Amino acid sequence: MKRVLVVMGTRPEVIKLAPIIHKLRARSSEAELIVCSTGQHREMLDSAMKQFDLHAEHDLGLMQPGQTPTDLLGRALLALQKLLTEVKPDVVVVQGDTTTVTAAALAAFMNHIQVAHVEAGLRTQDKRAPFPEEVNRRVAGVVADLHFAPTQASADNLLREGVDPSTVFVTGNTVVDALRWVHGRVAQMPPLPAEMVPPGKRLVLVTAHRRESFGDAFRELCLALRDIAERFSDVQILYPVHLNPNVRAPVFEILGSVPGVKLIEPLEYSTFVRVMLASSLILTDSGGIQEEAPSIGKPTLVLREKTERPEAVAAGAVRLVGTDRAKIVREATAILSDPALHARLSRPLNVYGDGLAADRIADLVIHGSTRLPPFKPESFPASQG
Ligand code: UD1
Ligand code: UDP
Repeated sequence: MKRVLVVMGTRPEVIKLAPIIHKLRARSSEAELIVCSTGQHREMLDSAMKQFDLHAEHDLGLMQPGQTPTDLLGRALLALQKLLTEVKPDVVVVQGDTTTVTAAALAAFMNHIQVAHVEAGLRTQDKRAPFPEEVNRRVAGVVADLHFAPTQASADNLLREGVDPSTVFVTGNTVVDALRWVHGRVAQMPPLPAEMVPPGKRLVLVTAHRRESFGDAFRELCLALRDIAERFSDVQILYPVHLNPNVRAPVFEILGSVPGVKLIEPLEYSTFVRVMLASSLILTDSGGIQEEAPSIGKPTLVLREKTERPEAVAAGAVRLVGTDRAKIVREATAILSDPALHARLSRPLNVYGDGLAADRIADLVIHGSTRLPPFKPESFPASQG
């Protein structure tokens, strides 16, 4: 029986791997599943694991406060080498573009173990944006034996790079599977507290944490949020602040006492999904939220200069605004002031997945083939904006 080691380290990896782990667990007669957490994240990873009722057989406990990607990569490679020698898996499954992914993919390759890469092929074609994730994802792509591209565009990127077409599969993104799983449960949950979603106010949800924006760009972004709060008295900005100290310092300094801005701790996934559903507008530099927000029909401004997720931008549902203060304020103002535009941007799109990605991936990891057809998005208007 195939021994499958799934390795994850951060919140988004847990959310996007959970549907695959559930499928593999349910097929224990076909594959032996072992889960490893590198512990690249601690509180945020633990919270996401709890949400999906996941347990890691191995926890490498690697997080250190304020770690750099280089330092973490070094420690993760050594710890994973030791683990692979012990566990001896046939295949290592990794997801996305984090330091954990690079370390696990490289360590598996060095030990002649098959690598399966979930969410393969996303590219900005700029190795410094997102930093260092664009390079992490390319490295994983170089050593992977199975490439699970969420969309046709990401598969095309891999094919252009010369990856063997027989190893590339268009699966859809498992984030849609995760979102549906949680969405199915939100109706039974208690309403969100009024201090989070004050009655009579429009909610603007914000997340931002990218390394390439640290410094001046991050401060600009925070100042833009302050401007928006000052301009719209009927808007509540809700910002669950990432635990990275490079993020928390400017956010609390600039926004800590601005009326209309509420800074809170990172939310557990189901609460975050409910907050997204309650929002009028989402401002984010997150990869996962760029996929979730259009899937549930929420107007979204992406606080990045470049994105490796162009599908929702091409569909007109998501706008790329970067970190320029004036531009963020202008674009947010346009959407908050124009109900017709807001309505146009609020149509759910299925450009990222159909909820069957984890089924396809579990088949492919276990048997190398699947009877399910490749993911195809429903047709959508060329531009809604
Ligand atoms: C990492 C990923 C990024 C992903 C993000 C998800 C890399 C290079 N980047 O960035 O792609 O979008 O995770 O959130 O892998 N911290 C805590 N507790 C936690 C999590 C983080 O205290 O649960 C703090 C620690 O001080 C830690 C720091 O945040 O050192 C940075 O964490 P790290 O995983 O290195 O980078 P992220 O910026 O979170
Ligand atoms: N998320 C969450 N709680 C929060 C903020 C985000 O559960 O307070 C979820 C979000 O829905 C998405 C994922 O975390 O699925 C995105 O993680 P993050 O932005 O940290 O990483 P990225 O996607 O940018 O790599």
